[in-house]
Order: sequence, then structure tokens, then C-alpha cells
Amino acid sequence: QGVFTYDPGFMSTAACESKITFIDGDKGILMHRGYPIEQLAEKSDYLETCYALLYGELPTAEQKAEFTGLVKNHTMVHEQMKSFLNGFRRDAHPMAVMCGMVGALSAFYHDSLDNNNPQHREISAIRLIAKMPTMAAMCYKYSAGQPIMYPRNDLSYAENFLHMMFNTPCEEKKINPILAKAMDRIFILHADHEQNASTSTVRLTGSTGANPFACIAAGIAALWGPAHGGANEAVLTMLDEIGDVSNIEKFIAKAKDKNDPFKLMGFGHRVYKNFDPRAKVMKQTCDEVLSELGINDPKLELAMKLEEIARNDPYFKERNLYPNVDFYSGIILKAIGIPTSMFTVIFALARTAGWIAQWKEMYAEGYKIGRPRQIYTGYTQRDYLPLDQRK
Ligand code: CMC
Repeated sequence: QGVFTYDPGFMSTAACESKITFIDGDKGILMHRGYPIEQLAEKSDYLETCYALLYGELPTAEQKAEFTGLVKNHTMVHEQMKSFLNGFRRDAHPMAVMCGMVGALSAFYHDSLDNNNPQHREISAIRLIAKMPTMAAMCYKYSAGQPIMYPRNDLSYAENFLHMMFNTPCEEKKINPILAKAMDRIFILHADHEQNASTSTVRLTGSTGANPFACIAAGIAALWGPAHGGANEAVLTMLDEIGDVSNIEKFIAKAKDKNDPFKLMGFGHRVYKNFDPRAKVMKQTCDEVLSELGINDPKLELAMKLEEIARNDPYFKERNLYPNVDFYSGIILKAIGIPTSMFTVIFALARTAGWIAQWKEMYAEGYKIGRPRQIYTGYTQRDYLPLDQRK
């Protein structure tokens, strides 16, 4: 059957070359196109970061205006998408709805789905980045039983998302700039992360020639799991379960117990074995948002105490388990008023830029169909037994 390298979990296999994102897990470095994540989070905005991910450079003022205009031109979804949405149960998990809606977009654009045509690839990328906030907010409004809000192109990307989430036709409030800034920073911090499980899924799906909407739907499905993007929702659920500082030790003991599947959600990372640079920025943003909004959230206190106890525990120290990006993002999203079930949808919205940039790079650079092999551990050949001879 041939000799294959056995690498479960792809711990040491590079599946592609890429110029988009650099990570040094030991030093806690993350850079997009060479720009450190800390600088992008502080000085850039999400659409500018998208531009850099897609085209390799930060845009000039003219390029930025053109790109922003292009994205704004594509923020609406086809009216028929509302009928599609209406087919779901109101209490469906929004990630289930997003898998369906994003995949369904391909049914609306079959005249521009030739993957070998660079212009088709380009317009699909713009459509996805433009429509993700609209579809995410549609999911939320549908679950809340409120009318869907159309996008407003006079607002920034993050403001428009908050407008579609929280405004109603009866009352259109001005979006709080502090919340819009925090939202934008969350988008930047989640925009890309090299060959994680969902991005690898997008590339693998893309390697079959599937259309970009199907590829991103596959990425959303992979992101949903609690070991990946679903962790931000799981952190809040875990903090609810812990409930009080006095229960922390009990949960730490559960996390260390090898007979218990429970893990401390928001802790540990496959690549970062020192600290997650995104978590540092996220914690700072979290402090800023809560103090500027004057929120004294007991969940944050609980989270900080949990972090302190875990950091000083030999089990977590020996295994280099530190808080990751998802540990603090949930607290900020909660302060903004986003319901817990939407947390992973927001991760998906932001990561769409990275997914589609990686998909485009794969097409531009050339690729082979992804087809891993296996180490077969089953039976050797044996003869078929008729039904009456089987025991
Ligand atoms: N709580 C308790 N023990 C843990 C945890 C945790 N959160 N994470 C890892 N460990 C233990 C694990 O049991 C293993 O112990 P031992 O060596 O005794 O067998 C050791 O630490 C090494 O862990 P691993 O499972 O081999 O590490 P991995 O690289 O395969 O998994 C991970 C990384 C992120 C899936 C894992 O740390 C985890 O499940 N964390 C909780 C979920 C989470 O927060 N995920 C978000 C990741 S960041 C955002 C994203 O990428 O989407």
C-alpha cells in the first residue's frame, strides 16, 4: 500500500505555501502580510485588513475608498434569501442557519462561478465579505422575531453590522462609537489565522473545484466545533456553569481529570505555546470597553480569577496552556449586547476575509486536489461468508 508519513492532527505537516499570515507560536507572534496583529488592531480597520489579506499590501487612500465602495455595493442579499431563511425554525442555532445561507448563495450567482476566471473569483470574494454581516444579522433578527433591517451604506462596516443587529424600523439609534470600535477590533483579531481547521477545510474543499460559497459554508461548519470557533460561546456557557469564584477550584480539578472530558474552554492552543497575541489585545479591549461603558461585569471578575488560578496551576504551566483569543472575546461581545449563540457567527463573519484570501491564493498559485492517505489497521483479506454461516 506504500509508505506514508503518519501525522495525526497534522502536527508537523505543511499542506501549502502561503504569503498571507505568519505565526511563531513559541514567541507569540502573528503577522498578516508582515504587519504585526497588535499594530493592525490598534491602527487599522477591518476593511483595510481585508484588503491587505486579499491583495498583499495595505491600500492607498484611493484604493481604500474604491474597495470600501465596492464592498458597500454588495451588502444586500437577494430578496429570495428571506424566503430561504423563513424555512428554518426560529430557535435554530444561528451557525446552522449560516451554513445553509452561505452555501445557498451559490444558487444566486451561477453566472459568475467559473473558478478559473480571476474576475469571477474577485467578485465572489467581495460578495462574501459584503454579505456576511447582512446574513448574520438576518439570522439574529429572525430568531428574535423582529423585522430584518437592510444594510446602510453610509455607515462603516462595524457600525452597519450593529445597526442591522440592534436597530428596528421603529427606532434607528445612532451607533455607539465605542461599541463600533470594539466590534471592528474583534473582526480584525479574527480575520485570518493561517492553516487552522476551518481554513484547511476551505482549502481542501476548494481543491476539488467546488464554488467559493460552498467552500466558505464548509469552513463555517468546521469553525462551529467547540475546539475551534465554538469556544467563544463555550467560554460563556462554562462561566455560567461555574457561577461563582468559590466553584473555580472544582472546575479546575475537572479540567485536569483525565477521566473527565471537560476542558477549560478558552485555554490552550495548537500553535501558541507561550501566549496568544490576540488574547493580549482582546483583554486590553475588554478592559477598555467595560470601563468606558461603566459595566462592572461579575463574569469578567470570575474570568480573571479563573485565569489567575489556572496560570499558577502546575498542570496548566507544564502544558503551556494560556488563555486564547476566545477567552476574552465573549465578555466583550456580551457587553456589546450580542447573544451568546451569535458569538461563533461573528467569528465566521470576520474569518471570511482570511478564508477567501486563502482560497484566492490557492487558485492564483496553483494546487493539487487534497487527498491524504491513511495507515490501514483493519483485517487482511478474508472470504465472504453466506448469511447462514455467520456467527
Ligand atoms: N483544559 C484542560 N486541559 C487541556 C486543555 C484545556 N483547555 N487544552 C489542552 N489540555 C491538555 C490536554 O489534555 C493534553 O494533556 P496531556 O498531555 O496530559 O494528554 C495537553 O494539554 C496538550 O493538549 P492537546 O489536546 O494535545 O493540544 P492540541 O493542540 O491538540 O489542542 C486545543 C489544542 C485548542 C484544541 C485544546 O487546547 C482545547 O481543546 N482547548 C479548549 C478549546 C478552545 O479554547 N479552543 C479555541 C482555540 S483558539 C481559537 C480557534 O482556533 O478557533
